[in-house]
Amino acid sequence: MSYLTIKDLTVRLKNGAPLLRKVSLSVNAGEVRALVGESGAGKSMIGKAVLGILPRAAQLTGGEILLDGEDLLTLPPKQRRAKIGAKVALIPQDPLTALNPSRRVGPQITDRLVDILGWKRKEAEDRAVELLDEVHIQSPDRVMKSYPHELSGGMRQRILIASAFAAEPKLIIADEPTTALDVTVQKQILKLIREMQERHDTALLFVTHDLGVVSKISQSLTVLYAGKVIEETDVRTFFAAPKHAYSKALLAATPKYTDPDGSLMPVPDNIISAVEQEVAAFDAQLTE
Ligand SMILES: Nc1ncnc2c1ncn2[C@@H]1O[C@H](COP(=O)(O)OP(=O)(O)O)[C@@H](O)[C@H]1O
Ligand SMILES: [Mg+2]
Repeated sequence: MSYLTIKDLTVRLKNGAPLLRKVSLSVNAGEVRALVGESGAGKSMIGKAVLGILPRAAQLTGGEILLDGEDLLTLPPKQRRAKIGAKVALIPQDPLTALNPSRRVGPQITDRLVDILGWKRKEAEDRAVELLDEVHIQSPDRVMKSYPHELSGGMRQRILIASAFAAEPKLIIADEPTTALDVTVQKQILKLIREMQERHDTALLFVTHDLGVVSKISQSLTVLYAGKVIEETDVRTFFAAPKHAYSKALLAATPKYTDPDGSLMPVPDNIISAVEQEVAAFDAQLTE
C-alpha cells in the first residue's frame, strides 16, 4: 500500500522556469525509497513540497501529493499543516543548523511531543530520554541538558533522528542525512536510520547524491535529473541493469558502490547533453 504518492508534481520559479517537471513517485508503508540525483536535481525541492515548506521563490503549479490517500494540496491550510506535522518528519542534511544553538537539546525533542501529540512536559521528557537511549546515546539525561555546540556532529544527528521518530510519524524524509558527517560516522548513522526505520515500521524517502549508500538502505529508487524522473525501479534491478543511459553513467561514475571512501566522478559530457535534450523535448511537449 502506497503511503506517499506524488503525481505529476510541477514546481516552477515565479518566472515560469520549471524546477520539478511532472514528478511522480510513491513510497509504500514501511518501505525505503531512495531519491537519487546530482546536486541541484530537485531532490530537496520534492521533500519541501511534501512538507509544505517550499521557498518563497518557488510555486507549486500542478500535480497531487497524496498522504495515505488524501491529497494534501486540496486540504485547507490549517488541516494540511496538522496532517503533515502528525504524519511526516524530516531528518535534515545539516544537524547543526537544524538545532537551535541557544536552547538545550531536551526541550528541542520534547517540543514535538508537546505540540503534536499534546503530551505533558514531564511525559515528553521521559519519552525523550527513552528515544535518546534508542539512538544509542550514552547518559541521555546529561545530553538532554546540553547545548548543541557541546556535542559532536554525529551526536547531533542522532538527536535529530530521535526527534524525527518521536511522534511516531508514518513517513520520514531523510535529506542527505550523512553528507555533513565524517565517513566513519556516516556508516553508523546510516545503520541507525535503517534500524529505527525497521523498528518503527516507517516509510522512508531517503534523499542522496551517492548511489553507494542506496544499496545499503533502500528497496527501490527514483533517479532525478533537472527535476525530471529519469528512472524508477527496485534496487536489485537497477544495480544489475540500469535502463537509462544517464543511470548507467551515474552508476559507472560511482567508483565502487561498496567503497564508502570513493568519491564521485562526473558523468560524461555526451550523456549529459543527451539527457538535457530529453528534458528539453519533455518541456516542449508540456507547453504544446
Ligand atoms: N530558495 C530557492 N530559490 C530559487 N531557486 C531555488 C531555491 N532553492 C533551490 N532552488 C533551485 O531549485 C533547483 C533544485 O534545488 P534542490 O532541490 O535544492 O536540489 P538538490 O536537493 O537535488 O541538490 C536548483 O536548480 C536550485 O538552484
Ligand atoms: Mg538537496
